[in-house]
Amino acid sequence: MDTSKRPDDMVRITTRVLADSFITGQIKAIRQQVGDRKVLLALSGGVDSSVVAALLIKAIGKNLVCVHVNHGLLRKGEPEQVIKVFRGEMDANLVYVDAVDRFLDKLAGVSDPEKKRKIIGSEFINVFQEEARKLDGIEFLAQGTIYPDILESHGVKAHHNVGGLPEDLRFELVEPVKLLFKDEVRVVGEALGLPASMVYRQPFPGPGLGVRCTGAITRDRLEAVRESDAILREEFANAGLQGKVWQYFTVVPDLKSVGIRDGKRVDEWCVILRAVNTTDAMSATVEEIPYPLLRKLVQRITSEVKGVNRVLYDLTTKPTGTIEWE
Ligand code: XMP
Repeated sequence: MDTSKRPDDMVRITTRVLADSFITGQIKAIRQQVGDRKVLLALSGGVDSSVVAALLIKAIGKNLVCVHVNHGLLRKGEPEQVIKVFRGEMDANLVYVDAVDRFLDKLAGVSDPEKKRKIIGSEFINVFQEEARKLDGIEFLAQGTIYPDILESHGVKAHHNVGGLPEDLRFELVEPVKLLFKDEVRVVGEALGLPASMVYRQPFPGPGLGVRCTGAITRDRLEAVRESDAILREEFANAGLQGKVWQYFTVVPDLKSVGIRDGKRVDEWCVILRAVNTTDAMSATVEEIPYPLLRKLVQRITSEVKGVNRVLYDLTTKPTGTIEWE
């Protein structure tokens, strides 16, 4: 039997009862596959790896070793949330790796978007391998592969998975949600007790804020992306738009313009607001942000985010624009 093919009669997991029964079945299957041996998981804090972590913790407890790599390109509060939820609430065996300087040093001065992506991807594998080699007795690698990854519908997050590991780290795979669609993974995540902010979070690219700090990344401009993104997310949540708009974020291009602050002319960056809706990420329409909310965003970002004197609103659909800026 092809275990990578979703059976035609597989029931779609839409309710808590169905999720509970899926969880019970998977706990049994994981225990059967793994026994009392150890499993390694790269835990990004995204929906899929978080659900896999929560499932494996239920099934094998501390025999799951989660590695969370902070590459410095995560959104505000994300590494803290991973530590709080998995170490604090689920008592997970979690290795937290602060690799911020390492990534940002490697990325310094690199402005080509594809080179940036390659550096982030390969450095991630390097850090993960180093951590894996420090651990004893690992025999399995868990991955948050989901069904669209197998179908390769648009390959949006194929590289989230730790592919291409060398011979000595080629462990047997554990992929408990590989036959599920995204909406099903979310229902299962809720049933496992993960917070809604983790389960229902918007898509986030693997290279993270790195592709929203366009051109060569600098620490201060990256902070401007992170802080403005946090304000946008907070205001969208306050306005009841969280979970309703498919993807929303800010971009800080490598561009300064003149402005006035405290009576003096200042050259500062601009923040671009992007909020889009789509079903498959192949085309996208622009969310019409209500004007009072736009005004509030401009006021908060220009007064709270260091080095920013202008806010722009990207009204471009895909095509011709892509969703991200690079
Ligand atoms: P674009 O910008 O191509 O984005 O319209 C479509 C969707 O893909 C996400 N995206 C990425 N995801 N690695 C990822 O994991 C990437 O390099 C990457 N680039 C774009 C983007 O956020 C959107 O959801």
